[in-house]
Amino acid sequence: MGRGLFITVEGTDGSGKTTQIVLMKNYLEQKGYDVVLTREPGGTHISEKIREIILDPSNSRMSAITEMILYAAARAQLVYEVIKPALKSGKIVICDRFIDSSYAYQGFGRGIDLEIVGNVNKAALDGEIPDITFFFDISPEIALSRRKASTGTDRIEREEMEFHMRVYNGYKQL
Ligand code: TYD
Repeated sequence: MGRGLFITVEGTDGSGKTTQIVLMKNYLEQKGYDVVLTREPGGTHISEKIREIILDPSNSRMSAITEMILYAAARAQLVYEVIKPALKSGKIVICDRFIDSSYAYQGFGRGIDLEIVGNVNKAALDGEIPDITFFFDISPEIALSRRKASTGTDRIEREEMEFHMRVYNGYKQL
């Protein structure tokens, strides 16, 4: 059996990508494909635990480097446990956020050198590079006003608007 297809979906917080991802999954399943849907940070028991640490608003003293490494650690486990085996068995994997989130948020947003972000994540990816990446081009002003109306705010969402604008412009460069 050939390698499956690896699709990732990116965008600023509250861009509405999660809703569209579910529609994409349903559509592909109707066409007869075997689809695995997952998200970052999370998607495995260990990665969800790391997610709790990263997004906990009480961890306001977390350094940018710690944050980058934690995202990469959650990613490494997801690749190892879910993404690599699914692609190997010919499935379509749709991942809500992946490596480009680290370039956009930790690179452009926090100001970590993109080369460092790339090098740390190289180990996490273990060669699994997305075949297709969709970017939801919604400005943070619109996205976050929508988001606040629907749910509470985690540590990243609490960042100032300039941070979210750097992330958004970073995505556009990527
Ligand atoms: P989540 O609630 O899943 O956000 P969304 O619904 O917008 O996808 O929270 C994930 C947060 O983590 C989001 O603010 C983006 C951020 N993030 C990074 O900063 N770096 C990363 O590598 C990843 C995967 C996410």
